[in-house]
Amino acid sequence: MRTSIDVFAKARDHDRLEQLRAARELDLMPYFRVLEGPTLPVVEMEGRARIMLGSNNYLGLTGDERVKQGALDALHRYGTGLTGSRFLNGTTDLHLELEQELAEWFGTEAALVFTTGHQANVGALGTILGPSDTVVADSGDHASILDGCLLSRAKLRPFRHNRMDLLERRLEAAAGDGGGVLVVVDGVFSMEGDIAPLPEIVELCEQFGARLMVDEAHALGVLGARGAGTCELLGVEDRVDLRMATFSKSLASCGGVIAGPAEVIEFLRVQSRAFMFTASAVPAAVGAALAAVRICRSVEGPALFVKVLDNARYLHRGLSELGLQVVEPTRLGDGTEVVTTVVPVVVGDDWKAALLWKALYDAGVYVNVALHPAVPPAGALLRTSVMATHERETLDEAIEIFGRVKDRFEAEHGPLPAPS
Ligand SMILES: Cc1ncc(COP(=O)(O)O)c(C=O)c1O
Repeated sequence: MRTSIDVFAKARDHDRLEQLRAARELDLMPYFRVLEGPTLPVVEMEGRARIMLGSNNYLGLTGDERVKQGALDALHRYGTGLTGSRFLNGTTDLHLELEQELAEWFGTEAALVFTTGHQANVGALGTILGPSDTVVADSGDHASILDGCLLSRAKLRPFRHNRMDLLERRLEAAAGDGGGVLVVVDGVFSMEGDIAPLPEIVELCEQFGARLMVDEAHALGVLGARGAGTCELLGVEDRVDLRMATFSKSLASCGGVIAGPAEVIEFLRVQSRAFMFTASAVPAAVGAALAAVRICRSVEGPALFVKVLDNARYLHRGLSELGLQVVEPTRLGDGTEVVTTVVPVVVGDDWKAALLWKALYDAGVYVNVALHPAVPPAGALLRTSVMATHERETLDEAIEIFGRVKDRFEAEHGPLPAPS
């Protein structure tokens, strides 16, 4: 008997199809726009210069001569690709040096370098957790965390974003599940740019005997005096079991890392399928990441961390003063405000976000559009982000463009959400 259902049918009738078709017809598609030069504070994109407020190149190191040289040296020494897994023929001395540097930077016993950050999360969670375990995850966690949790087939107990009362309830319930328990959170949440209240989370984990993993993708090379991330900033490094980061943000490259106790890292090295059954990153990516880590760990690092956060504060103030609703920096229990590199403007409606995005794009500013499921339904954001290498004049020009575009946009489409 032939089946009557075509597995490809969903490609023809998925729920975003109409929206995508309309966006394409009206040239409002904010995705897959083509970059025609290097990722710098101002980029060439589709025939003209645009201010880049939509990259994760937080320290601006993609344009740094030493990072480029690191990539070139690795390319010349090892060729264009390693054509094999880290497990087999894909480990070079650059990987080992990078793992050593990253473990020292995090202050952990060991570290393991993966080909991407997504694979690091999937490879760690999918290996450490098994079907008899429970994983407790923040609803704002990155998709790669969720993918790792689902792959593991552990019992998933999500809690509403940053709600410590709900985390506590999930941990109470998890204690009765009968397996090991891991809590996993982003240090800095990628869309809203807010941070996890790690001191409270470690307290709860310790109280309930759960392990804790923190994804530092948007915090490594940004937060803390050493730039070691949210755990460092909040003084909980010794109480967090596993730290994850990617090289695709401050480290100006591509790749991912899991850092933690030597026995766990060793276990991942020989058991993690996302580590073993994929090709090692191209040598240039490893060489660039290593050079970027060395810059972050040198005397230059702290000045870069300060610069990018100053720029974030500046952009936040400028956009707020225009009357836009910008997600506020997280305020800690002691009143300290934690600014991150992510400065999101709340729009709410998906179509309005696409229209506003296009108006900004046409006026010379590129930002990211975050729609559901990257954000909660009806929570569309224009996610702007800064680099340490953005000059003030460039940010001033971007703010001025936002102001002009906002006025025209509101005259035509009605008011945008105002600061609350
Ligand atoms: C919080 C977070 N974790 C993990 C990842 C995955 O990293 P990569 O892009 O290196 O695969 C990202 C990337 O967007 C991220 O934002």
